Amino acid sequence: MTANAPFIAFEGGDGAGKGGALVTLAAALTADGHDVLSTREPGGTPEGLELRALLLAASGAVWDQGSELLLMTAARIQHVKRVIRPALAAGRVVLCDRFLGSTLAYQGGGRGIEADLILDLHRRFVEDFRPDLTVLLDVDPATGIGRSRRRLADDATDEGRFEGLDLGFHQRVRASFRAQAAQDPYRTILIDADRAIDVVQQDVVSHVRSRLAASLSQG
Ligand code: TMP
Repeated sequence: MTANAPFIAFEGGDGAGKGGALVTLAAALTADGHDVLSTREPGGTPEGLELRALLLAASGAVWDQGSELLLMTAARIQHVKRVIRPALAAGRVVLCDRFLGSTLAYQGGGRGIEADLILDLHRRFVEDFRPDLTVLLDVDPATGIGRSRRRLADDATDEGRFEGLDLGFHQRVRASFRAQAAQDPYRTILIDADRAIDVVQQDVVSHVRSRLAASLSQG
């Protein structure tokens, strides 16, 4: 991890509890004196939010998997160039709910698009920009999808296109996330998110704090 402001991505299957963990971590890091920017994908810019609505709508949207990959990537290019890099340059800690790992897991593992193509696009358009640290909330898809569907019903949003996919899809997504974590253990914190939400959140805060302290002490 760099000694400059870190870029921290949250990854995991639907219903893993990333959103709440990110809010808790943002509050903890702010209390520690950091200037924190919380953001998410797809989204994070006006263009990204429009793409989010198109991509996640459960009703009506029929995307070819290639279109889905290119739109997720388009939202990321806008986000990296216009929001994430400028914030890091200004010394802000950036917490991002989903990043490249989600494209590798959903469009790669889930849909079956080759990882090389996803990584080529990432290299070509954002110079292979990567998180300094990824927090992976690993959840059993049966548990996560149940949580996520209940939340979508309570919020009455139309964002459930991926939650509507079958369990096999979500199991491939999970397998990809776990493989990514195994390939990059030094930049990943793997958290068991099948546990109670407050336990998961406290675990995230303590692991990230100790990684940040270790990276600062290394200069
Ligand atoms: P969330 O923001 O509520 O986690 O939902 C975003 C959804 O979009 C989630 O189902 C995963 C999906 N997604 C992809 O398929 N590929 C991506 O690159 C990203 C960022 C998200």
